[in-house]
Amino acid sequence: MLMVHEIAPLREQLQHWRQAGERIAFVPTMGNLHAGHLRLVAEARGRAERVVVSIFVNPLQFGPTEDLAAYPRTPAEDAAALEQAGADLLFLPEEQTIYPHGREAVSQVVVPQLGEMLCGASRPGHFVGVSTVVCKLFNMVQPDLACFGQKDYQQLTILRRMVRDLDLPVEMVGVETVREADGLAMSSRNGYLSCEDRQRAPALYQSLQRVAQALQDGRRDFAALEAQGSELLSAAGLNPDYFSIRAADDLRPAEAGMAQLVILAAAQLGRARLIDNLTVSLSPTT
Ligand code: PAJ
Repeated sequence: MLMVHEIAPLREQLQHWRQAGERIAFVPTMGNLHAGHLRLVAEARGRAERVVVSIFVNPLQFGPTEDLAAYPRTPAEDAAALEQAGADLLFLPEEQTIYPHGREAVSQVVVPQLGEMLCGASRPGHFVGVSTVVCKLFNMVQPDLACFGQKDYQQLTILRRMVRDLDLPVEMVGVETVREADGLAMSSRNGYLSCEDRQRAPALYQSLQRVAQALQDGRRDFAALEAQGSELLSAAGLNPDYFSIRAADDLRPAEAGMAQLVILAAAQLGRARLIDNLTVSLSPTT
């Protein structure tokens, strides 16, 4: 596996592969890789001749009071795991390479509305940071396709919108969430959980499953279901930020008659902000 830190050698290598007719799949990450990230790499491996992974803890997507400094950084372990997973190139830029003129004044990619709701409401500027860095990384790598986790459902929805609106020639692939045995979605932030909180954390996925079952059973009183979901989280000792039932494609509020829904929730648990979601397909008769 090649390790590259600068844009010029990255472009040079990619050009060789492209000239040989090889398709390039891209997996952007912030590192501290776990089985969820590696599932994306496996998906990429199956879809293209070359797999490029980036690791960059993007300061632009962290708020001033968030965990940028504490965010776990494990580059040696990450490189070994990626080598094992069959990645061809690991791009490890420094902040100076991504934001050479400073991150304060950098041109931004804004996905309106979608970027301001749910996590965007609690984390102002977060999704502008995400869409800006992913747009820049797409321009550096120019991949044929890129893999993202459904774990970050709103992020994936926003990035699909960016690709559509800005005519970026990248096929977007959404990959199913990888979970621990007790249902907790894998996340680099799970490492912040104390032993006690780790026991409480599966309540997030369980609350989503409970509300998904209620929808399958025919309930359409969305506001009451959202309130119930929040109460389940509070009862389990989590501090809910939101619990929301939305249209699966564009995250507008759910209405009776919609067939494809997604239930999204975020909650604080100790030092960790946890998010998860569950899509629900309803047959027209239910
Ligand atoms: P990061 O949190 O490192 O996640 C990188 C990719 O891994 C994202 O597409 C995310 O959805 C996916 N992922 C994380 N946990 C997963 C799980 N349990 N199952 C499946 N996929 C999972 O998301 C980011 O980084 C950043 O915002 C980034 C897109 C790299 C831009 O900086």
